[in-house]
Amino acid sequence: MSISSIQKLTVSISGHVRSKCYSLGKWLRGSPKLMKWFYPPEKVVTPAEKYREVNVNYFSDLHTQERMLADQQRMAFYHEAIRRKIKPGDRVIDLGTGTGILAAFASRQGAGKVYAVDHSSIIEHAKMLAAENGIENVEFEDVHSSKLYLDEKVDVILHEQIGDFLFDEAMVPNVCDLRDRLLKPGGLILPSDFEFYCEPMTMHDDRREPYIWELNDVYGFDFSSMEARRPYDAEYNGLVSCDLGVVKQFLGVAEPLLEIDLNSITESSLSQNVIFKRKVIKPGILDGLVVFMKAKVDDDLELSSSPLDPNRAPHWGFRILRLDQVQAEAGDELEITMSVKDWIDPETWRWACRRIRTEW
Ligand SMILES: C[S@@+](CC[C@H](N)C(=O)[O-])C[C@H]1O[C@@H](n2cnc3c(N)ncnc32)[C@H](O)[C@@H]1O
Repeated sequence: MSISSIQKLTVSISGHVRSKCYSLGKWLRGSPKLMKWFYPPEKVVTPAEKYREVNVNYFSDLHTQERMLADQQRMAFYHEAIRRKIKPGDRVIDLGTGTGILAAFASRQGAGKVYAVDHSSIIEHAKMLAAENGIENVEFEDVHSSKLYLDEKVDVILHEQIGDFLFDEAMVPNVCDLRDRLLKPGGLILPSDFEFYCEPMTMHDDRREPYIWELNDVYGFDFSSMEARRPYDAEYNGLVSCDLGVVKQFLGVAEPLLEIDLNSITESSLSQNVIFKRKVIKPGILDGLVVFMKAKVDDDLELSSSPLDPNRAPHWGFRILRLDQVQAEAGDELEITMSVKDWIDPETWRWACRRIRTEW
């Protein structure tokens, strides 16, 4: 048989097979029972599982760990907290050990045993680093903390599960789970006290970014029709920044919107609708709200991500929740409403602000 006849035959057979496969596929799609057998339904992934996957990938990356290790405010805060609070002989869980640095601090402080748990592959480096640095009493557990089972309860849960928006690294559910299962009564959670802030603020004039529909003359080009297509989702309206050149001032006196005590909090005790007021003391344009956090160990040992704190821990971002700009005068009152479906997921946050002219 000549080569060209073989080619023709091959083309004709493969065309025949393809058409049969197509008919089979069509027939299967018309029969739900058979369809399930051939193509098992995709596993339903919950938001928590999805987040876990993102977290594992994010923290497996060496550069993510480098950014945290390079944050000197963060490192000094944890080093000092561990020096003050971990007692010789303490049994400790280091929740989310990463490179194992906090476990090493605890071990050097005299902890009897540290269970260092992490669900990302960074733990393989942590094991080697501990051995290379002569850290001996740390037991590494490469599981998600909810799958950590121990034969004993511990004196201390040590953790750095602090997201840019405080809650978004699942700190509350992760710590609560370990607290309820594996912490001795009266045991220590380090750190346990947090403040969540959401402050009305003014941006620096040269950093203010108008909404696109406010631009009606960009060298003669008009964007104002975009207002009809204004997006209302939190991803568009909530900007994330580490850029300290953006926020010029808070309009009022900063006060925590939520105070969190991990010793007593439960996931369901977090309020989902919060209304609060701020008296304007520094007049200026209200550009939005800025979200940041504070962690507290002692009165003189705090960690802050406030964009206006010169000692802020630099690697944490802060979030700007944009608002339609209004001029706020001293004495005005701003009433802010936040409604939140899930604190872990900032995309579910919604916010609004009402200016009340009290002295006009
Ligand atoms: C912010 S990093 C802190 C790392 C380290 N403790 C430090 O201070 O440098 C959080 C770490 O916790 C891990 N992690 C987050 N949630 C976890 C969980 N529920 N169980 C185990 N590991 C977790 C991440 O993989 C990541 O390495």
